[in-house]
Amino acid sequence: MLEKLASALPKAELHLHLEGTLEPEMVFALAKKHNVRLRFPSAAALREAYQFQDLQSFLDLYYEGAGVLRDEEDFHQLTLAYMDRVARDGVCHVEPFFDPQTHTGRGVAMREVVEGVVGGLREGEKKHGISWRLIPCFLRHLSEEEARKTWRDLIPFQKYFSAVGLDSSEKGNPPGKFSGVFAEVRAAGLCGVAHAGEEGPASSIREALEKLQAVRIDHGVRCVEDPDLVRELAKKRIPLTTCPLSNVRLCVYEKMSDHPLKKLLDAGVNATANSDDPPFFGGYLLDNWLSCLRELSLEKHHLVQLAKNSFEGSFLPEKEKAKWMEKVDQVAASCV
Ligand code: HPA
Ligand code: ZN
Repeated sequence: MLEKLASALPKAELHLHLEGTLEPEMVFALAKKHNVRLRFPSAAALREAYQFQDLQSFLDLYYEGAGVLRDEEDFHQLTLAYMDRVARDGVCHVEPFFDPQTHTGRGVAMREVVEGVVGGLREGEKKHGISWRLIPCFLRHLSEEEARKTWRDLIPFQKYFSAVGLDSSEKGNPPGKFSGVFAEVRAAGLCGVAHAGEEGPASSIREALEKLQAVRIDHGVRCVEDPDLVRELAKKRIPLTTCPLSNVRLCVYEKMSDHPLKKLLDAGVNATANSDDPPFFGGYLLDNWLSCLRELSLEKHHLVQLAKNSFEGSFLPEKEKAKWMEKVDQVAASCV
């Protein structure tokens, strides 16, 4: 019964990497289109390689797969496939990330990447009524100087973006490394979000809040190691975009029942559940919700809170947020 409610509730996805939605079959189709040789014999063999010990072992395969994305049409197709897929999960609003440097570093023009992604989002919106905001991320394993150059290349497309993010290898690359470029981003009128507290400690969440003035923390689960921080996050309603299946697949937690999502919700934190990189981690948005529902024994009020948090934590205008909150309450009332 609660499964039905999880599916029926309107939901927003706030933590999703478009390159991380590449299904192995699409990797092979695009490799054929562009005459790229892959080191795997088949899509099934590639899918079997999706077994990771940590974040880095995943990122190595994730960047390799993204190498087949070459032109605007590829980015459009990738993005639309994601919109088509999540329409089935009751997702009404999405705020995906993309990694411009992964592509510009291979010689793909920024315009092809951005126009392709925006074209896919617009077509998905028209087809399914899913609204969207878009967030380019800096790769934190590269230098701040490279992030600054990327920001300059992004400026012509700024009207498409609601924020700028920070992702890739957290270990050894603390948020403070990028305080200068995030100050530039804020001066241009965009806010920052940052991956923090996934593999890094709770102190990296504080650092992202203080040095980047991040308005939302991606993952953020390791805040539970600092009870004062949990209280502060709850008091300020700072959104944490957790990704439960990702955390288990990347060995942040040994099993789903160890995941702190329920604890965070009970502590009043604005936590959400998201998919991160669905084919790599074994599920899209609803799969994440259902896995938490079962393994963490969530109750009806947790599901309602997760749905509300996803809109509250979004970059939608207040009026739109209020409309979705009301809709969540209506669906919850009709599903006993
Ligand atoms: N963490 C950091 N970088 C990433 C992730 C993640 O979970 N997914 C894609 N890039
Ligand atoms: Zn992520």
